[in-house]
Amino acid sequence: MIELDRVSKVFGAPPGAVRAVDQVCFRVEDGETVCLIGTSGSGKTTTLKMVNRLEEPTSGRILVDGQDVQTQDLIRLRRSLGYVIQKGGLFPHRTVAQNIGLLPRLEGWPADRIRARVEELLELVSLPPERFAKRHPHELSGGQQQRVGVARALALDPSHILMDEPFGALDPLTRDSLQEEFLRLKSRVGKTILLVTHDLDEAFRLGDRVALMHEGRLVQIGTRVDFRLRPASPFVEEFMRSHLDGPGEALALDLLDPQAQVVPMGENPGGSGPLLFLDTNGLLEAVAAEADGPRHENPPTLAASARRAVALEMLLETRLPALGVLDGQGRLLGAVTPTSALRGLQKT
Ligand SMILES: Nc1ncnc2c1ncn2[C@@H]1O[C@H](COP(=O)(O)OP(=O)(O)O)[C@@H](O)[C@H]1O
Ligand SMILES: [Mg+2]
Repeated sequence: MIELDRVSKVFGAPPGAVRAVDQVCFRVEDGETVCLIGTSGSGKTTTLKMVNRLEEPTSGRILVDGQDVQTQDLIRLRRSLGYVIQKGGLFPHRTVAQNIGLLPRLEGWPADRIRARVEELLELVSLPPERFAKRHPHELSGGQQQRVGVARALALDPSHILMDEPFGALDPLTRDSLQEEFLRLKSRVGKTILLVTHDLDEAFRLGDRVALMHEGRLVQIGTRVDFRLRPASPFVEEFMRSHLDGPGEALALDLLDPQAQVVPMGENPGGSGPLLFLDTNGLLEAVAAEADGPRHENPPTLAASARRAVALEMLLETRLPALGVLDGQGRLLGAVTPTSALRGLQKT
């Protein structure tokens, strides 16, 4: 577990002092991935670097597995926290095997144990050792360098991993496949991960929770459902709108219609806008375009994670006035309607 307790960082002295991180509190639970997101300069990298003490906090405490990082031996601390940066941060004049084996060698492992570990890690990140172990970083693509960077961070099997924009420098296709691989790897290795990104779509894809920073402060931490349905401030709402409602990224969850009302069967709330009727078990029983309109029984529903294209297709196919949207536990979050499904596609 990683815990930040009212952590602040001020660079420089008055009058030119910069409060890069301001009273930040949050936790990354064991086995959890938290993605730190925010615009450039919001304090993400500084927050990450204070965990492995590449920066020292001005005030506040950081605990890793309950131990204050300030009281730990710096070398031991750094070796217990895997660290991955953009482009892998590899040493250009060392081979892939030497880069990955660096920390085990500093730990004094015998050569054959290092070799075995390097091979195991290269297999893990899908780089066949017989082809890649002896190459130098310049003989690798950006995506391959990034994989080596991840393998190196895992060398001593740290329980915690810090990643700073690990996929930031890659083209969209490579980025997509490395994100897939990250999720696969994560489920296999069970690490506690704090990952910085400026891409909100990536943050929600990779993170169990997302922590949004703005001007050094933590604005909100939670899941995509939390951010969408319970935004902590108008800033969060606007951030979600401007970063997720573009043509490609929006999910059913992002496209809920605020006009749609959920009511128990038999009730008639009045007002305009589509209605979703629940049966006595709280399950969706019917939808209607308006209070007096015809009811469509047993309507199909959408998963909150369905892409916009899927929502549009289902609306066209069923010709329903609204589609119920369910979260992973089958709870009704709201409805997508033909109007809301087009949100963000046209400028008004
Ligand atoms: N070593 C430093 N000296 C002075 N100011 C810094 C230093 N590192 C970062 N800053 C400032 O702190 C703020 C937060 O930076 P950073 O944590 O890198 O943001 P992010 O990673 O979110 O882009 C910025 O205003 C940046 O200019
Ligand atoms: Mg940064």
